[in-house]
Amino acid sequence: AQFDLVVRGGTISTASDTFIADIGVKDGIVTALGQALGSGEHDIDASGKWILPGGVEAHCHIEQESSMGIMTADDYRSGSISAAFGGNTTIIPFAAQHRGQSLREVVKLYHGRAEAKSVIDYTFHLIISDPTKHILSQELPALIMDGYTSFKVYMTYDMLKIDDRQFLDILTTARRYGAMTMVHAENNDVIAWMSERLLNAGHVAPRYHAVSHARIAESEASGRAIHLAELTDTPLLIVHVSTEEATRTIRKARDRGLKIYGETCPQYLFLTIDDLDREGMEGAKYCCSPPPRNDADQESIWLGLQNDTFQVFSSDHAPYRFDETGKLHAGPNPPFKMIGNGVPGIELRMPLLFSEGVRNGRISINQFVALTSTNAAKIFGLHPQKGTIAIGSDADFALWDPDREVEITWDDLHDNVGYTPYQGKRITGWPETVINRGRVVVSDGELHVDPGSGRFLRRRPGHGAAVPAGQLVMEVSPACNFGAEIL
Ligand code: URP
Ligand code: ZN
Ligand code: ZN
Ligand code: ZN
Repeated sequence: AQFDLVVRGGTISTASDTFIADIGVKDGIVTALGQALGSGEHDIDASGKWILPGGVEAHCHIEQESSMGIMTADDYRSGSISAAFGGNTTIIPFAAQHRGQSLREVVKLYHGRAEAKSVIDYTFHLIISDPTKHILSQELPALIMDGYTSFKVYMTYDMLKIDDRQFLDILTTARRYGAMTMVHAENNDVIAWMSERLLNAGHVAPRYHAVSHARIAESEASGRAIHLAELTDTPLLIVHVSTEEATRTIRKARDRGLKIYGETCPQYLFLTIDDLDREGMEGAKYCCSPPPRNDADQESIWLGLQNDTFQVFSSDHAPYRFDETGKLHAGPNPPFKMIGNGVPGIELRMPLLFSEGVRNGRISINQFVALTSTNAAKIFGLHPQKGTIAIGSDADFALWDPDREVEITWDDLHDNVGYTPYQGKRITGWPETVINRGRVVVSDGELHVDPGSGRFLRRRPGHGAAVPAGQLVMEVSPACNFGAEIL
């Protein structure tokens, strides 16, 4: 046969186009798009289905210890399987450094965790919590060259946070070697100060988690992060944006031509602070950082998805069970500070946005593809191998039934969390068949590949989005600065 696989008659959408065609796949690559393609060893009839690039899930915590020392409920097996059932073909979880650890050792550790378990392709962002001289000058540059071309830093959490000076050092390293920096932007001191006062006044319930993570903590830190990126002329992605003010801050920076990118998540579209106020400790299931906000914020987040303030829609899957291994690790009735932090969502990220965004007419199908796949592939140096359906790209796509009605229930999901924040919600559209490098990973509600069959993706630095804009502020510009090169 001319092809290993031919998928016939589906309606294909990319970030830019929609057309009906057959897809011919050979050796895991799309080798033909056309009408009435020749025979394949396997044939899939996709008439009536929408064929979309496989999701690139660019923000998920899998088999990772939190800064409190709690292990996520999902390992690379359940995490990647849940991702695949939700229409994803690539995941980019974190290899997280705790202080004192060598980054190189951390990367080895995470390779060991993923290698025999992942069912879809993967690569790692680094989390840098301890930017020593050795790490900045030796380990990090070497790792970037070896294909770990993105990292996340934290402005909050006592065990992870870096100060502004360390942030500047990391940004200039990213700039020099062509890596992409992501930032968790919340003001640590504001949160600590709020928390202390709330706890002293006896306000311990889950709801006060959201109060302590004041919206000003997020907008201040987002603005500060953007200023530091501007000072160093370095591209920066602000992750998990939750408020209207932070959204506007990013919008303004982009309007000034800065290479500032934005990411948001389902929890900021579909949950609010009221979810943290549920009966008993139920609210603990909805505690994540930043926290869900209010209806007006949800509207501004939708606007940001529509008008390209946000390029990336991720789950921030941070899976903790509602028991002593996760959310309630500090006891059955923990004060809000001691609740395991994060919400699950890796399987529902795409179906939720498809239903409420595309089917409800808020975004086009092409915007959906950009937000869930193409933009992340571009920002993190995986495009055009990943993130599109094109000749020469990996055969990574999902066949969606756009009309399938689903009532969400945790029992149908493939993660290891035991609940979902979206329980009972009715949505329309589902990725029924998921194909990664020509392998049918999921079809008819079943997994068809072995753990460990996903491949590690080595990335090349210096691509596209990570290239500095070249807008030097006066103080760092050699031309205005008597020839001094400081970046
Ligand atoms: O609450 C969250 N998001 N927990 C996961 C860690 C992070 O900050 O992304
Ligand atoms: Zn077969
Ligand atoms: Zn974060
Ligand atoms: Zn996260």
